Amino acid sequence: MTSRTPSDSAQQPENAPAKAPAKDPWDLPDVSGLVVGVLGGTGPQGKGLAFRLARAGQKVIIGSRAAERAQAAAEELGHGVEGADNAETARRSDIVIVAVPWDGHGKTLEGLREELAGKLVVDCVNPLGFDRQGAYALRPEEGSAAQQAAALLPDSRVTAAFHHLSAVLLQDPETDMIDTDVMVLGEVRADVEIVQALAGRIPGMRGIFAGRLRNAHQVESLVANLISVNRRYKAHAGLRVTDV
Ligand SMILES: NC(=O)c1ccc[n+]([C@@H]2O[C@H](COP(=O)([O-])OP(=O)(O)OC[C@H]3O[C@@H](n4cnc5c(N)ncnc54)[C@H](OP(=O)(O)O)[C@@H]3O)[C@@H](O)[C@H]2O)c1
Repeated sequence: MTSRTPSDSAQQPENAPAKAPAKDPWDLPDVSGLVVGVLGGTGPQGKGLAFRLARAGQKVIIGSRAAERAQAAAEELGHGVEGADNAETARRSDIVIVAVPWDGHGKTLEGLREELAGKLVVDCVNPLGFDRQGAYALRPEEGSAAQQAAALLPDSRVTAAFHHLSAVLLQDPETDMIDTDVMVLGEVRADVEIVQALAGRIPGMRGIFAGRLRNAHQVESLVANLISVNRRYKAHAGLRVTDV
């Protein structure tokens, strides 16, 4: 009788097919044909992202609670950006960036559950509080804004990204390059890669996989530190992940 040892079971059987080579993590999909919607796209972050993506050739629709506000902001931005109310924006988009304030996050997403079903949702919301000492991280009941989105949108593909950007730089037409990495979090690799590719459309920006949504809290919270950096150094700080 032969017995198998643990080291035996770890060996490949002789006729096992060769292991496929690991996929190049920088081999990202072509997202140039996807429509990007931005909920809360009339604010500095949403407008800035819309401007950058549209300038890079992406089709962008900005959303608002009032269609006419979105249309006015879209006209200001040019580059083919359109404006609509948040529901229509969600319906017409393949990828939907959530750029509303933390205060309105849960209610906004709850109200758009149907329109967002099947969509790739990208949450960039940073739950922060401010007092006389500056900005500090809040801890949402669900763990993070991204996890709240995932809980409220069971039929959507929720990811998180674009937390650490300066809306001032994004909106400045004189700034050609946005010198920063974008941490992208999510549960499904293919969805994360789409968001990485989207970030990569913006000159200077690189999207990097940074874990699952359960690790979104640290990423969202880090913005409180960046705000402190910006105040001390009068800067619009971004982040770089080295050695990748
Ligand atoms: N600003 C930045 O530099 C930056 C950087 C990274 C991430 N973020 C995150 O991006 C999000 C947006 O930032 P922002 O500075 O652009 O915010 P904001 O100007 O305060 O809000 C963005 C838009 O959201 C809509 N809105 C306001 N209150 C709302 C509510 N209670 N419910 C639903 N919609 C509401 C408004 O549009 P309508 O009135 O037209 O609906 C507003 O123009 C925030 O969660 C922030 O943490 C910001």
